[in-house]
Amino acid sequence: MTFLRMEELDLSGKRVLIREDLNVPIENGTISNDTRIRAALPSIERARDSAAQVIVMSHLGRPAEGKPIAEQPEFSLRPIASHLAALLNCRVELIENYLHDPSVVAASDADLVLLENVRINVGEKANDELLASRYAKLCDVFVMDAFGTAHRAQASTQGVARVAENACAGPLLAGELDALERSLTNPQRPMLAIVGGAKVSSKLEVLNSLANQVDQLIVGGGIANTFLLASGISIGNSLCEPELVESAAALMQTTNIPLPSDVVVAREFSASAQAIVKDVTEVEPDELILDIGPETAVSLSDLVSTMQTVIWNGPMGVFEFDQFANGTAQIAQAVAENPGFSIAGGGETIAAIDKFGVTDSISYISTGGGAFLEYMQGVTLPAVQILEERAANK
Ligand code: 3PG
Repeated sequence: MTFLRMEELDLSGKRVLIREDLNVPIENGTISNDTRIRAALPSIERARDSAAQVIVMSHLGRPAEGKPIAEQPEFSLRPIASHLAALLNCRVELIENYLHDPSVVAASDADLVLLENVRINVGEKANDELLASRYAKLCDVFVMDAFGTAHRAQASTQGVARVAENACAGPLLAGELDALERSLTNPQRPMLAIVGGAKVSSKLEVLNSLANQVDQLIVGGGIANTFLLASGISIGNSLCEPELVESAAALMQTTNIPLPSDVVVAREFSASAQAIVKDVTEVEPDELILDIGPETAVSLSDLVSTMQTVIWNGPMGVFEFDQFANGTAQIAQAVAENPGFSIAGGGETIAAIDKFGVTDSISYISTGGGAFLEYMQGVTLPAVQILEERAANK
């Protein structure tokens, strides 16, 4: 991949606008997993070391466009500003009215300026040209570093990269692309993909594409329920997508997809629900499958241990509730113990890896969720494509 990298530019004295993906889980004002923030630090530090004025922007969640942050404070980047200040040990100023009065950004004497959630700006999602040019006017150099949002052609990702005076890839984005390319080009075989999570619909494309690339596919979570239904097994009241049963059946015809032999069920979806382990053929109409059973966890872990390359996205069950966490915990352990190359990505997967304490044993952890999946499908990420185009037209 050819694009201009941040380290190739002299940033000293320049206004440098870095698009990061600081979209982290926040519960009651507290950041519950700061992996993405920590991953962005080397890029921010590098810009700060170059004596540049450093301005960082990001989205958080999916707020309403055009609605002031005061009316939707849960989408404010304020907790992230405080966290960045603590991690970098510097003064961070969170600025809200940067579009209406860009001079407040230039006038800031903070060590780091953080722009309030870009997704409240009208035209952000539609990649509005005027909005993109307003971002561009805030800087001399635009650094696209948000790998997690590189699959979105939005004003703060692709649009500004198109019109900014200078645009380059930040170290996090470049590092992610280098690692993913290395791991998917001539991977060691056998190669396994583990795809879990709630819905087949959000991952059907990636399942189809991975089925063509890997030697073995494991499905978990709500996705596995749709595959169980497609095999004629009663799944009670479990989350599933009956309209995708045909797609699941088609995939099972071409690819070896082992299904759970036992499951953990409950009568309600709650942290206090009583967990019952049973054979997969014995699920009652009022029961919900919330995890794979212990027998399945062992056989899938054995399978993982025979692989040379493992790609993992999505949990096996509702690992946030301890009584339904065993399946994901076992798989996390198996991926960590795999002596080959393992690569994992996605918000829930990162949270699971963190919860089960195996972060240091996974070969590569991507900060991307949807971006990671789209890359796996072979989709060209639009915010990367524009950097490549600019490099090619130089
Ligand atoms: C993610 O969490 O995958 C990224 O931050 C992108 O978020 P989005 O799906 O809301 O665009």
